[in-house]
Amino acid sequence: MSDSDAAGPSLWGGRFSEPTDAFVQAFTASVGFDHRLYRHDIAGSRAHARMLARVGVLNDAECERIVEGLDAIEADIEAGRFSWSVGLEDVHMNIEQALTAAIGDTGKKLHTGRSRNDQIATDMRLYLRDAIDHLNGEFDRLGRGLLDLAARHADAVMPGFTHLQPAQPVTFGHHMLAWFEMLLRDAGRLQDCRKRVNVMPLGAAALAGTPYPIDRRITAELLGFEAIAENSLDAVSDRDFAIEFCAWAATTMTHLSRMSEELVLWTSPAFGFVELPDRFCTGSSIMPQKKNPDVPELVRGKTGRVNGHLMGLLTLMKGQPLAYNKDNQEDKEPLFDTVDTLAGSLRAFADMVPAIAIRPENMAAHARQGFATATDLADYLVRRGVAFRDAHEVVGRSVRHAIERGCDLPDLPLDELQQFSEAIEADVYEVLTLEGSVASRDHPGGTAPEQVRLAAERGRDRLTAVTGGPHAAP
Ligand code: ARG
Repeated sequence: MSDSDAAGPSLWGGRFSEPTDAFVQAFTASVGFDHRLYRHDIAGSRAHARMLARVGVLNDAECERIVEGLDAIEADIEAGRFSWSVGLEDVHMNIEQALTAAIGDTGKKLHTGRSRNDQIATDMRLYLRDAIDHLNGEFDRLGRGLLDLAARHADAVMPGFTHLQPAQPVTFGHHMLAWFEMLLRDAGRLQDCRKRVNVMPLGAAALAGTPYPIDRRITAELLGFEAIAENSLDAVSDRDFAIEFCAWAATTMTHLSRMSEELVLWTSPAFGFVELPDRFCTGSSIMPQKKNPDVPELVRGKTGRVNGHLMGLLTLMKGQPLAYNKDNQEDKEPLFDTVDTLAGSLRAFADMVPAIAIRPENMAAHARQGFATATDLADYLVRRGVAFRDAHEVVGRSVRHAIERGCDLPDLPLDELQQFSEAIEADVYEVLTLEGSVASRDHPGGTAPEQVRLAAERGRDRLTAVTGGPHAAP
């Protein structure tokens, strides 16, 4: 990137009597980060030129020259042949200046009937729409990975927790489906956000609209926008589409972070429930035995920056009067970083999830240690006519007895269990096993293996209904 070219960009320098201070030029420039919008900026310019030709503001030859010039600039940027100049402030003026340098005075006509204010708002929306479509594809991949994992381990029993204390047995598949539900809602929210992103600001010009006979529907159709912004002041000043996206991102990261936290716990030898393949872990430079779950740890950690970006954008907007203010230039870095962080985190999870191996023996051993079938004993007593509160008391005393004996509930001989209630008979052992416990929760939403298999099957169609399916990603 070159430092400075002109004394104040020739694109707006007319009314100035001295050049911009060199530091101010660098301080106010955005090209260092907004050059990343070049594809969307060029797409917007092409569509704008075509629309201007259709309504007769440009003639066909001028339009063709502009479009060909823009194509060549895009090819140069992609080939790394384009040199960005801080002196030209932002992506828009860099490209416009290059166009005029390449095709001559016709290039100066491109900016007719628009402003950088509606231009940047359009670029951001086009950029975010592409990002959303990419993230949607990652959701589809991750969701299918979770459904496969759930179906594969529909029978594996692990402790379900409340307060991180073993509470009741659940199947590992059921737990994976809980993750799936969180992410399916996130995928749905992302599609909802896309509708409000996919609205076209172009035509608002600086703030009030433009006196040229523009036809915004043509531009919108060329760019694939579903609607045009209805109010020019709102069109150039609104950034709530970015806030909404970042709120979505913070919610999704919060879910990924909770999943990460569980993976970190479960991979610790203290739990030993799952194993991540070596390629998703790193070692320690000092402790040779270590295998660290860096990927989930990092995803958990990155949640902080995404939450921060949401706060940043909310704060950026809260004091702005209508319409466009330069403050808005500060929306880009948080938004880009949010997109990058989500793309990386979803990709890491989508790659990692299918490779998660489980250790069913350790899960079952933990479930047994924690008296996870105690509620099943209470329910058994209730089925035999004992009031629930009394049953709770009976089970509590049975658990205390088992603790004193150093064993689990199903290890207690029948006569010892019967000391606590006459309602207990030999068939009690059927409900005290982990398998019996999970099998009894046999309704939609319950943890019975058969229900998990059915729910995983339904999940495929539910996911397709939101993401468009595995092949919908661009
Ligand atoms: N770099 C600016 C931004 O990101 C582009 C719009 C500039 N408009 C203006 N009137 N200075 O918001």
